[in-house]
Amino acid sequence: MKTSKSFYEKAKGLMPGGVNSPVRAFEPYPFFTDHAEGSRLFDVDGNAYIDYCMAYGPLLLGHAPSEIVEAVRRQLGKGTMYGTPTEAEVELAELLVEVVPCVEMVRVVNSGTEATMHALRVARGCTGKDKIVKFEGCYHGAHDYVLVQAGSGATAFGAPTSLGVPKDSAKNTLVVPFNNLGALEEVVEKNQGEIAAVLMEPVVGNAGVILPRNGYLQAVRRLTEKNGIILIFDEVITGFRLALGGAQEYFQITPDMVTLGKIMGGGFPMAAFGGKKELMQLVSPVGKVYQAGTLSGNPISVVAGLTMLNILREKKTLIYSQLERQGDALRKGLSDLAEDRKVPVQVNGLASMFQVFFTPQPVFDYKAAQSSDKAKFQRYHRKLMERGVFIPPSQFETCFLSTAHSEEDVAETLEAADAAFQSLR
Ligand SMILES: Cc1ncc(COP(=O)(O)O)c(C=O)c1O
Repeated sequence: MKTSKSFYEKAKGLMPGGVNSPVRAFEPYPFFTDHAEGSRLFDVDGNAYIDYCMAYGPLLLGHAPSEIVEAVRRQLGKGTMYGTPTEAEVELAELLVEVVPCVEMVRVVNSGTEATMHALRVARGCTGKDKIVKFEGCYHGAHDYVLVQAGSGATAFGAPTSLGVPKDSAKNTLVVPFNNLGALEEVVEKNQGEIAAVLMEPVVGNAGVILPRNGYLQAVRRLTEKNGIILIFDEVITGFRLALGGAQEYFQITPDMVTLGKIMGGGFPMAAFGGKKELMQLVSPVGKVYQAGTLSGNPISVVAGLTMLNILREKKTLIYSQLERQGDALRKGLSDLAEDRKVPVQVNGLASMFQVFFTPQPVFDYKAAQSSDKAKFQRYHRKLMERGVFIPPSQFETCFLSTAHSEEDVAETLEAADAAFQSLR
């Protein structure tokens, strides 16, 4: 790790923490990547890792799938940015309307942060109300309104609410525990007529993985509908991952709006918000909710995303069943090995998402996730890395499978996990 270390020493004097996004920093220093292919990352010191970070979610087909690389190469020869509409954007919008149940109209942006920021603006613009509800441990990007008890990096770095967020923007964000219908009912009751939107990750992917209890999402849908509150599913992680149509297809619940990102960009920066036509017609230039972006819908990202989504649509039966099978094998394997080695863990997840929590307590909400032994998790992370397996360096992230992970990769990963659990007793 000599070369990574020297890059890190230089980087930390130039960039905060030596990184361009906080979750990438870990002790004693992160490895620097040279290249990636399929299920593997290769660092600048010549080490290879089976990768379950997968760039924090976008790479459902693994690193650098040839179809996407080729499509982008072709587009590069035709220009990188136009600032005018393209046919590919229309094709992309058509595809999103076809496959994501709640989408009747869509606006493409560049990041998940932008998507949630603008979806909330639409909800507020439509209802004329300022308050929103979010859930403990759910992360919706790094803008002011949602940086309140957010998961992901905000948790791992011990700053659930960031400095610099004006009290006035945070005061309109009401926070309730996930999987607790009573708490949500109470907040809705107390703020009757004042709430514009409920914003939620239908499966929490930013506090480790936390699944909704049976019937919970249905109940949230009923409650929001009854009270005229716009329900926004943040499917930046779950979109195109749990099923082609995301969590809303998987759980058969249609929200009013959705935010999408990660997989949608095919490994390039692209995200979107969409929903009912009556809501999306409020967006500029037809409506009075302002939204804009120089890079939005740029031809490189659109071509990459379109190639990704077309592959997923064409091969969806095969792809999603394979991911589910591999995910089940990995989750069961991890759970059995930890039990054999007498390390109390919870292995949460579904489809191609998973995470190991070092706690004997079932993890159904953020508080339970926090009961996990973080020091043990760090040692587990380190041990896996020593054996050529890379998972996100935080307990509060999600591990992702891709179609590039083979059965041999999974078997190798379980061997590494066994050694890691053994060292943790
Ligand atoms: C559920 C969810 N929403 C929004 C975001 C923000 O997306 P971005 O990092 O592209 O701004 C993330 C990022 O991890 C996310 O997981």
